[in-house]
Amino acid sequence: MGDDQHAAAGSGKETIPLLTPYKMGRFQLSHRVVLAPLTRQRSFGCVPQPHAAVYYAQRTTPGGFLIAEATGVSHAAQGYPHTPGLWTREQMEAWKPIVDAVHAKGGVFFCQIWHTGRASNYGAKQLPVLTAWRSTRRGYLLDQFLKDGVNDRADAYGGGSLGNRCRFALEVVSAVAGAVGRDRVGVRVSPYTDYMDAADSDPAALGLHLARALGEAGVLYLHAVEPRMRRPTERGETRHSLRPMRDAFGPGRTFIVAGGYAREDGDAAVADGYADLVAYGRLFLANPDLPRRFQLHAPLNQYNRETFYTPDPVIGYTDYPFLSDEKTDDGVSK
Ligand SMILES: Cc1cc2nc3c(=O)[nH]c(=O)nc-3n(C[C@H](O)[C@H](O)[C@H](O)COP(=O)(O)O)c2cc1C
Repeated sequence: MGDDQHAAAGSGKETIPLLTPYKMGRFQLSHRVVLAPLTRQRSFGCVPQPHAAVYYAQRTTPGGFLIAEATGVSHAAQGYPHTPGLWTREQMEAWKPIVDAVHAKGGVFFCQIWHTGRASNYGAKQLPVLTAWRSTRRGYLLDQFLKDGVNDRADAYGGGSLGNRCRFALEVVSAVAGAVGRDRVGVRVSPYTDYMDAADSDPAALGLHLARALGEAGVLYLHAVEPRMRRPTERGETRHSLRPMRDAFGPGRTFIVAGGYAREDGDAAVADGYADLVAYGRLFLANPDLPRRFQLHAPLNQYNRETFYTPDPVIGYTDYPFLSDEKTDDGVSK
């Protein structure tokens, strides 16, 4: 527990570890409840829309950290309709009012860039990333290299060696860091997931190798998905923990966890030093004022799975209700 938490405890005020401040590199965060990246498929024609400014601003608090939905780096990177891109001037311009809306409320906003690999528009024909393509298997591009269940290359990017399989991801990180500065690059990894059949036979070793290498690369944060989430939103039981990855990433470095967290275990993760920040997906999607609800122990809106990916610019997107205004005299930012 940090000094400010002890101070708050001494003052008789309840301390909520998730709502204590945290300095992430140059970014001073006012709390540790992060908006996880959430694909919402409402960027018509791959161009971000004005309703996204409303959606992200709703989930912004002063000093809050938000990670934008997965955003394609090229036309060939896209794999799902109406997911945003960031490769044309039009898309870049369309992002600006969204970013401005988040900044206007004091939020820290990172973009998640992705390439859907074999799940993409172009499929195997245009993506010579694997030596053999099995039509029943997909995986996102970096996972296709990282995981031995899908990487069957025989060259320096495969061949069964962990170092070889991690090479491409680390090269991408190094290229992005070269472009924007490593102090503005974070990496999300999910060694334990087997989504789209991208599974690894030794995810603990893969996670450790990546964490060590990313720590050495000096990126701002490592964001790891809990081993219990073998699928993006299906929670199971596991004996694995992210603790060894956190330790391997290095002391004093920002470690974010995600996957199946509620308020209580998020608090415990921060209080125990298991994580610095906790990313919330479905709960934040359905509760635009999630940090405030955590502070007040307020009931949470239920998320509606049916509208996760529907294209409506309002329903299931910006119409989840805030706590009513009667509760605003508590001094908590709205
Ligand atoms: C609607 C929806 C969209 C998602 N889109 C992304 C995405 O774009 N990028 C990503 O890395 N994870 C994505 N995820 C996974 C979430 O970031 C998160 O890891 C997952 O929902 C588990 O966390 P939770 O239990 O707090 O919801 C998505 C999940 C949901 C439910």
